[in-house]
Amino acid sequence: MIVVASSNGIVGIQTAVQVLRAGGTAVDAVEAGIRLVEANPDDHTVGYGGYPNILGQVELDASIMNGRTLESGAVAALQGYPHPISIARKVMEELPHVLLAGAGAARFAAEMGFTAQEMLTPEAQRVWQERLQRHMPPELFANLHAQPALRDWVRLATDPERAGGTVNFIAQDAHGDIACGVSTSGWAWKYPGRLGDSPIIGAGNYADNRYGAAACTGMGEMAIRAATARSLVLYLKMGMTLAEAGTEAMRDLADLHGRFLSVMNIIALDRHGQPAAFSSQQGKTYIYQRADMVEPIEALRTFVAIPTRWG
Ligand code: GLY
Repeated sequence: MIVVASSNGIVGIQTAVQVLRAGGTAVDAVEAGIRLVEANPDDHTVGYGGYPNILGQVELDASIMNGRTLESGAVAALQGYPHPISIARKVMEELPHVLLAGAGAARFAAEMGFTAQEMLTPEAQRVWQERLQRHMPPELFANLHAQPALRDWVRLATDPERAGGTVNFIAQDAHGDIACGVSTSGWAWKYPGRLGDSPIIGAGNYADNRYGAAACTGMGEMAIRAATARSLVLYLKMGMTLAEAGTEAMRDLADLHGRFLSVMNIIALDRHGQPAAFSSQQGKTYIYQRADMVEPIEALRTFVAIPTRWG
């Protein structure tokens, strides 16, 4: 039994391991771990405390995948609910659908009994306001909702280095079943309605008991274009080692053309319970904990260079 996570999963990994020790499933462990990250107001890339879109609205994306059945559920651009990972799980378990977005996702959350909450914290609101006012004349900022064109402001305000913070969790339970979950508030100051890779199965999240699982943090647009999580798992299916599969999935991203390329990170687990992680930034880490360990280990990600371009 093992739980693997991006470094910001540190607030939830011990709870996730405890769920496995108590006989919970991989899906239970992933959900439990991610909920604690979503509840952490100091993490400005996930859940409560997440930075808003350019209009000051917190829009959350999340997905969960069961590697035993390949069932999955996701919500995207969800406003007003603090635990998108749990709502994504309900989509997987209660609906004949995989992905709900926007008002439909919020309606479903209410229908399933989730409690609505103001998601913009005073701290996130202050940073949003300061960041936009650095670029915008005060009268424009005061009438942001009425602006006919937001596209140039999104490009100016977004910091590509901070663009895609997210949390990833992968767990393997006592039965050998694997599950993978991802949750994010997406790019700070993004265009309203923008979805990243986190709610897109195959892009930011993929799990298949027969081969392994992978999940991404970083610039979601890149993982969508290269189908990164599914690619890594497919490379495992084709017979590559975990190190080879992760490196190849990162190299696919390095081949992307276009004007906007930034950071990408992947965590992965193979079917034998072996973890690994990859990053386009040197010195980045991830965490994992096996059920017989008293605390998680922080390990270095394999560096694979990806060019960065912005505009
Ligand atoms: N990787 C998260 C996002 O791009 O929204």
